[in-house]
Amino acid sequence: MMPKKIVVVGSTNVDKVLNVEKYALPGETLAIDSYQQSHGGGKGANQAIAAVRSGADTTFITKLGRDEDAEMMLKGFQQDHMNVDHVIMTDQSQTGKAYITVDQSGQNSIYVYGGANMALSPDDVIAHREALAKADRVIAQLEIPIPAIIAAFKIAKENGVQTILNPAPAKEIPEELLHLTDIITPNETEAQTLTGLEVKDEVSMLDNALKFFAQGIKMVIITVGDKGSFYATPESHAFIPAFKVKAVDTTAAGDTFIGALASQLELDNSNIREAMLYANHASSLTVQVAGAQNSIPDQAAINAEIQKN
Ligand code: RIB
Repeated sequence: MMPKKIVVVGSTNVDKVLNVEKYALPGETLAIDSYQQSHGGGKGANQAIAAVRSGADTTFITKLGRDEDAEMMLKGFQQDHMNVDHVIMTDQSQTGKAYITVDQSGQNSIYVYGGANMALSPDDVIAHREALAKADRVIAQLEIPIPAIIAAFKIAKENGVQTILNPAPAKEIPEELLHLTDIITPNETEAQTLTGLEVKDEVSMLDNALKFFAQGIKMVIITVGDKGSFYATPESHAFIPAFKVKAVDTTAAGDTFIGALASQLELDNSNIREAMLYANHASSLTVQVAGAQNSIPDQAAINAEIQKN
C-alpha cells in the first residue's frame, strides 16, 4: 500500500492531567494522589500523530504561541517525523491547553483553553493552500474556528482531495461545512447533536447516516466508545465490535481511531472493514496507557496486536 498523504488542520494542546478517585461536587475540595504536567495533546495533533505513526506521510497545519509549550510540542512532532513546515506561530496568544481529569475507570472530563488554536484564520489556511492541494485527504476537527475549516475544505474540494470531518467537541455546524465533507466521524453524542436523532442501536445509527447522506456526505463512521464503530455508505453498512480491554485512560482513543483509519483507508474506501478493524485495534492500545500522544501506538504495535487476535 502506498503511504497516504494526509494533511491535518487542527488544534494543538498541552494536556495537564489530574488523576482523581471521584469528581468533586460544587463547593467540595478533594485531595488527589497524582497529576501529570504538560503532555502533548489536542485533537488535531493527536490525529496527526496517530496517522504518522501508522505510516502516513503527514503534514500538520496548526497555530502555536511563541512559548515553551510550543517548543515542546514542535520537538515531539519532529521526533515523529511529521512535516511541520506549515505550523504557524503567533505572538498574540498562548499555545492551547487542556485541563483533564481521569477517574479510576479511565473515563475523562476535559476543559480546553483554545488560545492560539482559536486564532487560526481562513487566511492562515489559504497561505498553506499548496500543502492542502497536494494531499490525498484532509482531516479537521472542531477545536479550531469553523471558517478556517471551511477554507481548508474548499481548497481540498477544488483539488479533488478527500475531506474528513471529526465533529468533536460536539457543536452545531453550518450546512456549508457539511456540504464540503466527504466522510464524517462523530461519536454517538456528536452524531445526536448534528442530526437530532438518538444513537442507541444499529438501526438508529443508520437513520443518523441517512440524515448525513442528505447533506451530501458520502460516508458516515460513528464511534461508540468501548462497544465499537459503525460505518455506512449509501451502498453498505456494518458495525465492527471493539476488543475488550482494561481501560486505564480513554484520552485520545477517538483521535487514534481517526488517524489510524485515515492512514489505512484506500481512497475508494474499498477496504473500509479492514481499515476499521485496524483503527479499533489502534484505539484499544491507546486506552491501555495513560496520556494522549504518549499512548498512541505505531504501526508495528498495531500489527502485532492484530496478529494476537
Ligand atoms: O481528544 C483528546 C484531546 O482533547 C486531548 O488531548 C485534549 O487536548 C483535548 O483537545
